Amino acid sequence: MKIKKVVIPVAGKGTRFLPATKEIPKEMIPILDRPMIHYAVEEAVKANIEEVIFVTSKGKEVIEKYFQRNSTLEEFLSKNGKEKQLQNIKNIGDMISFKTVEQSEQLGLGHAVLCAEELVGDEPFAVILGDDLILSSEPVVGQLMKISEEKNFSPVIGVMEVPNEETFRYGIVSGNMLNDKTLKMDSMVEKPEPQNAPTNLATPGRYILTPDIFQCLKEIPRGSGGEYQLTDAINHLAKKRDVYAHVFEGDRFDTGNLDCYLNAMVEFALRDQRTEGLMRNIIKDKAAQMERGLL
Ligand code: G1P
Repeated sequence: MKIKKVVIPVAGKGTRFLPATKEIPKEMIPILDRPMIHYAVEEAVKANIEEVIFVTSKGKEVIEKYFQRNSTLEEFLSKNGKEKQLQNIKNIGDMISFKTVEQSEQLGLGHAVLCAEELVGDEPFAVILGDDLILSSEPVVGQLMKISEEKNFSPVIGVMEVPNEETFRYGIVSGNMLNDKTLKMDSMVEKPEPQNAPTNLATPGRYILTPDIFQCLKEIPRGSGGEYQLTDAINHLAKKRDVYAHVFEGDRFDTGNLDCYLNAMVEFALRDQRTEGLMRNIIKDKAAQMERGLL
């Protein structure tokens, strides 16, 4: 057995990025020179996943197009001797095979994952939330796949420690530590206030799930925010079988709102050799201007 498929929900309206998202999907907004969705798919490719299932909605067709070949552009680049760009563009078109399923109503992350049931079939699969970008030497979803395999293809939820006051932004897990990185989960709760949070282990959008999650998704009521929450279904699943959580290696950047997005852009620029020097100089110049009261 092997984990071959990843579900990436991309149906959201991206209202926090209006007006940019009025006509283009939020997933197509770039960090440096790539749309955000590129990083999520790249993570899956690096983990040897073979197929992406986009859970999409009307007006998001450009995401699928982005991962297809573009013969007009390829011809143009070829005619103009732009070999490097040509190769880059071809590579994106050949990156991975994908399928799409439409989520006709926005009823939450749990509902989005349930839409992928037929395309996933009867096998374990990964879920990546594209809002959460994670820079790591080994792709996070690959790290979780390893643990899942070790545990006979059990569900594994990627977690990271967050400051106590931030638990209300995430699904939070609790359980028994098996070693310093992996725990056997006993419960998971969506966005608890700090005083109600069982731990500060938060789930930033990386999951290995098993097909029995779909039954749980059908059984849960609406939860936090009136939506069908994936967290509630995983909590339900943990009552029926062993579910693990694993503290992954990597630095995670949220891009879900403008503040986080700006921070992610600067961090990515500092970590990319093409832009690192430039970014450092910009920061130095701005700091000097601030010191002199010019900013
Ligand atoms: C979703 C999930 C939440 C998870 C978070 C990660 O929430 O419901 O459990 O921790 O993504 O970004 P959202 O941020 O979409 O409200």
